[in-house]
Amino acid sequence: MEILKLVDVSYSYDGKKNVINHVSLSIEAGKYVSIIGHNGSGKSTLAKLILGLLEAASGTITIFDKVLSDKTVRELRQRIGIVFQNPDNQFIGSTVRDDIAFGLENRCVPHEQMEGIINEFAVKVSMEEYLDKEPSNLSGGQKQRVAIAGVLAMHPDIIIFDEATAMLDPKGKREIHEIAMQMRKENPGLTIISITHDIEEAFDSDEVIVLNEGQIVMRGTPENVFSRREELLKVELDLPFVYKMRNALIKEGYDVKDIKTVEGLVAFLCR
Ligand SMILES: Nc1ncnc2c1ncn2[C@@H]1O[C@H](COP(=O)(O)OP(=O)(O)O)[C@@H](O)[C@H]1O
Ligand SMILES: [Mg+2]
Repeated sequence: MEILKLVDVSYSYDGKKNVINHVSLSIEAGKYVSIIGHNGSGKSTLAKLILGLLEAASGTITIFDKVLSDKTVRELRQRIGIVFQNPDNQFIGSTVRDDIAFGLENRCVPHEQMEGIINEFAVKVSMEEYLDKEPSNLSGGQKQRVAIAGVLAMHPDIIIFDEATAMLDPKGKREIHEIAMQMRKENPGLTIISITHDIEEAFDSDEVIVLNEGQIVMRGTPENVFSRREELLKVELDLPFVYKMRNALIKEGYDVKDIKTVEGLVAFLCR
C-alpha cells in the first residue's frame, strides 16, 4: 500500500527559484527510505512540505488516501512524527519524563495511562534510568533518543528523521541507527524516511532517493544506487565506505561481491 505520494510538487521560498522542482515520488507503507543529497539540495524543505509546515506552490501530496490541504493537515500531521537535527531544539519539558509526556498531553491521553506509556517508550530507547533527569544534562545521542521516544509514543505511521544524527558523535550515530533498526523490527507497518547528507546512513534502507537542486536524480535500492559512483560524484556525494572498500577488493581479484556490511567485510579481511 502506498502511504505517501507526491505528484509534481514544487516549492519556492522567494517565488522565483524552485527549491523543490517538480518532484514526484511514492513510498510504500512499512518501507525504510533514505533521502540523500548534499546541503541545500532541498531535503528539509521536502520534509516540511510532507508535514504541511510549508504549502506546495503546485502539485499534490497524498498521505494514505487523503490529499494534504488546509482541511486535512491537522489530522495528517498527527500520523507523522519527525526528529530534527538539533537535539537542543527538541525539548520543552524540564525532565525527560515531562518531555515524553508533552506529546501525549497534546493528544489528551488520560493521566492514569501516561506513566505506563512513558516508561514503555523510555525502555525502548534505553533511557528509563534518566526519566527524572534534566534533558539539558544529557549527551546529544541521549537527547535524540528521548526525542525518538516522544515521537514513537504517539504511534505515528510515518517517522521522518531529518539529519537526526548529524550532530552526534559516532557512538551516538550508532545508537540512533540501532534504535531505527529495532523500530523497524517491532513495527513492520511503520514507514521510516531518513533524510541525510551522510551516505553511510543510507546503507540499510530499502530504497534510496537522491535529491539534487530540488529534483530527484537517482532512485533505487542501495545496491543499485551505490553501483553508480560517477552519478553520485556529480551531485557531490560518494559511496559508503564499505562499497568503496569492496570495490577496491574486487579490483584486486577478491570475490566479495556479496558482502554488504562492515561486519561482513571485517570477517572477510580477518580470514
Ligand atoms: N526559510 C528559508 N528561506 C529562504 N530560503 C530557504 C529557507 N530554507 C531553506 N532555504 C533555501 O532552500 C534551499 C534548500 O534548503 P533545505 O531544504 O534546507 O536543504 P537541505 O535540507 O537539503 O540542506 C537552500 O538553497 C536554502 O538556502
Ligand atoms: Mg536540511
